[in-house]
Amino acid sequence: MNTELPSSLRVDWSMTYPPAQPSTSYVWTFEPTAHPLDAELSWPEGTHSILIRAFENRLDRFLEWDLSKVKQHDKPAFTTAAGIFRRGVAVSGLAQKQIFGSYDITFSEVMPAIFGPNDVCIIDKNVADAWSLHSVTANCLILQVEEASKSLATVSKILSFLEPYRSNPKPIYLVGGGILCDTAAFACSMKGLDFNLVPTTLLSMADACVGGKTGVNFSPYGKNQLGKFAFPKEVLVWRNWLNSLPDRELNAGRSECLKHILLSKELPNSLATKPFDSLTTVDLAKIIALKSEVVSRDPTEKGERAILNLGHTLAHALEAYSHKNNPNQPINHGEAVGIGILYSLFLSKHLGQMTEVAFQKAADLVVSSKVLIGFAKLKAYLPSDNLRDPKMLRDIVQYVALDKKSAGQTTRWILLEEIGSVHRHAGHWTTPVEQEDIENTWEDFVSYFEKL
Ligand SMILES: NC(=O)c1ccc[n+]([C@@H]2O[C@H](COP(=O)([O-])OP(=O)(O)OC[C@H]3O[C@@H](n4cnc5c(N)ncnc54)[C@H](O)[C@@H]3O)[C@@H](O)[C@H]2O)c1
Ligand SMILES: [Zn+2]
Repeated sequence: MNTELPSSLRVDWSMTYPPAQPSTSYVWTFEPTAHPLDAELSWPEGTHSILIRAFENRLDRFLEWDLSKVKQHDKPAFTTAAGIFRRGVAVSGLAQKQIFGSYDITFSEVMPAIFGPNDVCIIDKNVADAWSLHSVTANCLILQVEEASKSLATVSKILSFLEPYRSNPKPIYLVGGGILCDTAAFACSMKGLDFNLVPTTLLSMADACVGGKTGVNFSPYGKNQLGKFAFPKEVLVWRNWLNSLPDRELNAGRSECLKHILLSKELPNSLATKPFDSLTTVDLAKIIALKSEVVSRDPTEKGERAILNLGHTLAHALEAYSHKNNPNQPINHGEAVGIGILYSLFLSKHLGQMTEVAFQKAADLVVSSKVLIGFAKLKAYLPSDNLRDPKMLRDIVQYVALDKKSAGQTTRWILLEEIGSVHRHAGHWTTPVEQEDIENTWEDFVSYFEKL
């Protein structure tokens, strides 16, 4: 593999919008009601109530919205809601559009020059604190962000800040981790403003800054449920931001890097175990390239992009459980992904897709990459006195079933045959897994994890 630092990686994307081809339609008869956020977000009155109703009715992104029975004056609210519900669903009578573009991911050895007099920035407060960026430019919004504030209320705050910059000639710079970038990019896209991403966490460099997914959580209906596909003009990667990143966040980001390494035949396994101090920009570029290549081939997750969910089905369930039962000290995304990756290896072996030898090799890599939090920490974050408790497992399985990839008792997982080789089931990248397979694998998994 090339050991030179590429100055940039080009990501080409093209997609139909709305992204998913409808399988069938849902006829709306609902009468929307006003909510204060409608005005704050400049939405047609009633939009918020339609979103709530769509989640209550458990609509998915493959259902087209049939508005033939909706009052004429409510239609703008329905089309606005359809545009952001699960990153956009089809509306009957509105044609899908073909859109395309490209952007560069640029790697630099010095802090990117983004604080000129005409630059507008939205910066994560912890980054601004660590790098003394509070008064670098007059046109700057410093935001304290956490998963709980990845919300429409924060989008509203960002939109108010952006109001004077509606005709800004340059893209808005979004400087921070995945939470700031996802939320602020969604806000920019709602206003039709261009943006550049400046990721400052390992997770956002390796994963969140590539691929055009933007959006916010919509409590209590789940993570990243409202949003848009919106692509940056440029992504600026400067590795040294990571020097101020707390160890916990650094390790969390390593899980997504490990995921890319497990999905690739080309990335050397040694990248997963390299100490942080010797992880170079070239290494980062290679890890980012895996995602950018997959996204270029399948921007809207019609097929192959689903492989990037390796480890995420269990991870999302662990996160949901932990946020509900331990909101003050929950597990973070990357930590949950590390555990989810290990568990997906157990499922792959249990279902016969992975030989014992391939399992050992992959599991050894997960363990030696040090992405796993300890057994005691997992128990503390969930929290759980006993990870074998059938009641807890039932709750986790229920969260797994709520995951958007599920149908009835069957859930869809990314499973591996070996490092670099995803198991394909009947031509699909995901494999159906029954609830009882999860129950039958859990004990083995817990025992293995406990002994690490
Ligand atoms: N859009 C996508 O494709 C995609 C992919 C993966 C994850 N995500 C999303 O990304 C989010 C997680 O992102 P994250 O892990 O970057 O978390 P994050 O944005 O919460 O950042 C982690 C913590 O580090 C702080 N921080 C950020 N950069 C810092 C720096 N350089 N120095 C010191 N502190 C710093 C932040 O303030 C925060 O407290 C989740 O909401 C997840 O859903 C999105
Ligand atoms: Zn992830």
